[in-house]
Amino acid sequence: MRFEIVTIFPGFFASIFENGILRRALAEGLVEVGIHDLRAFTHDRHRTVDDRPFGGGEGMVLKPEPIAAALDSIGIAPKAAQPSVGSRSSSETAALYQGKTSVMPNPDLNNDRALAPAEMRPTVILLSAQGRPFTQSLAREIAALDRVVLICGRYEGVDERINQLYCDMELSIGDYVLSGGELAAAVVIDAAMRLLPGVLGNEASSEFESFGVPDADIATEVEGVPRSQHGAGGLLDYPHYTRPAEFAGLKVPEPLLNGDHQAIRRWRREQQLRKTLVNRPDLLEQAKRSGALSRKDLEFLEKLR
Ligand code: 6GU
Repeated sequence: MRFEIVTIFPGFFASIFENGILRRALAEGLVEVGIHDLRAFTHDRHRTVDDRPFGGGEGMVLKPEPIAAALDSIGIAPKAAQPSVGSRSSSETAALYQGKTSVMPNPDLNNDRALAPAEMRPTVILLSAQGRPFTQSLAREIAALDRVVLICGRYEGVDERINQLYCDMELSIGDYVLSGGELAAAVVIDAAMRLLPGVLGNEASSEFESFGVPDADIATEVEGVPRSQHGAGGLLDYPHYTRPAEFAGLKVPEPLLNGDHQAIRRWRREQQLRKTLVNRPDLLEQAKRSGALSRKDLEFLEKLR
């Protein structure tokens, strides 16, 4: 899968691409990223990307022309006026990457292969605090796409005509205001790419955590060892422990030490319920309504109250 990032801070992304799982995914060619510097698509001496808002008010607005030019340079036309399939060969499209665009981390990556499916229109996402909320299920939808363009808003916002003309979705990562969409783009890329086949060491591990797939879809045991139920019906994950068995006077909970799979499963499930009740009562209500809680679960919650 390939991400295209349109930003005024191309250097922002270096650290996330040079570390951790994303670094490996890029090195192995499982994920590709193109970074497009908005200022490279300006034509004035000051490389102006923003301007004052019509109607007055605080702050500055990202101008539409540089964004439109950046999108055009990667073969993306306004939604209504897409070139027909095959009208631009993938090598022609790849050629457009030369010059203004850096492909990280490996400029030798085969753009032709990456761009071949993108003769269908990629999904264009505008990152803004006004967007629809980013969730795990949206991360799964994005991970299923071949090519995703992320436009990072800045200042007070982006000229709305960019949204109208080019964007399939306006997306926010939470109910707080960031100074720009770059952090949000990094969040979206991280959450989506780790769901791609082969990116995580353990293929199953992304299923078994908070907000994972519903209970019914999870094998609860692997070779007799309880996989437990984290992720079950949208509950938070249970707490994890490793050695030493005692740290700063605190012992690892007894049920985890005995190898009694039934007891481990029950303890973990109860901890999920406890944590979700404390930190995310909204998720617990949702789980109740969707019938994801057993009678035992409900009895345990009753006891907690
Ligand atoms: Cl995507 N952008 C900005 N500027 N603020 C945000 C956001 C995005 N998501 C939450 N707050």
